[in-house]
Amino acid sequence: ITEYETILATVEGRVATITLNRPKALNAISNQLTQEVIDAAVRYDRDEDIGAIIITGSEKAFAAGADIKEMATLSFAEAYTADIFGIWERFTALRTPIISAVAGHALGGGCELAMMADIILAADNAKFGQPEIKLGIIPGMGGSQRLTRAIGKSKAMEMVLTGRTMGAEEAERAGLVARVVPVADLQREAAELAATIAGMSKPIAMLAKEAVNAAFESSLAEGVLLERRLNYACFATEDQSEGMAAFVEKRPATFTHC
Ligand code: CAA
Repeated sequence: ITEYETILATVEGRVATITLNRPKALNAISNQLTQEVIDAAVRYDRDEDIGAIIITGSEKAFAAGADIKEMATLSFAEAYTADIFGIWERFTALRTPIISAVAGHALGGGCELAMMADIILAADNAKFGQPEIKLGIIPGMGGSQRLTRAIGKSKAMEMVLTGRTMGAEEAERAGLVARVVPVADLQREAAELAATIAGMSKPIAMLAKEAVNAAFESSLAEGVLLERRLNYACFATEDQSEGMAAFVEKRPATFTHC
């Protein structure tokens, strides 16, 4: 893709920001928007000069879900053969740390996209929900799994079975989001958080992401073993030498990402 129409993709320092930009449709996730988000994210992920990616929307909507107008006439055969939501596995396979900066509606696929990131930062006006049941479907971009892992069975069941939304404060209490900030500060806070992460060693941040994500896919013993192996691998990097030398010499570390 050479020019994006449904997203804005910008870079500042070592931080890339993907802004969903279909204001008239509250950033509904159309096929085109899906293609563009994944195209941009994959490009940034491969770029050694990018240390963190922010995905965000507008103050009114992070994303109000998959595009209902596109889906309304879909048949089972079309959905299944095209595997319309399977493409998001390319996004969840990204290895660069990703922050969702969520203001306004994060519903259905919007909530699911937010949860595909590594950290969710929420504005005080954020609203999370899986309202698919009201449309006669169930979540399709991982909501039934990621929401349950994030907030537990009872709360996730209530949300998925009734479609009720959850405000930012409740989302923070439930462990869905890392932090709540005033909506006016969301972009600045997300940029600062991303810049902090991007200032770390990229390979080490990737190892850290891999280790935390393993907690969702493995037994405790397997996860702890993987963590230990990855920890030992850190000692093969120049950034480990630099990080520890800087501590001993009482100066800030300058990581070279190798
Ligand atoms: N798909 C397509 N268009 C959408 C949309 C969606 N998910 N959400 C909002 N829009 C459109 C509306 O149709 C409307 O367009 P028009 O002006 O052309 O009518 C425009 O965005 C503004 O929306 P509203 O007028 O409805 O705005 P509002 O402020 O009154 O309400 C809202 C906001 C509560 C978010 C409401 O728009 C809404 O309920 N949206 C649908 C939410 C939803 O059901 N999401 C789940 C989708 S299914 C899914 O995501 C499947 C999956 O798991 C992958």
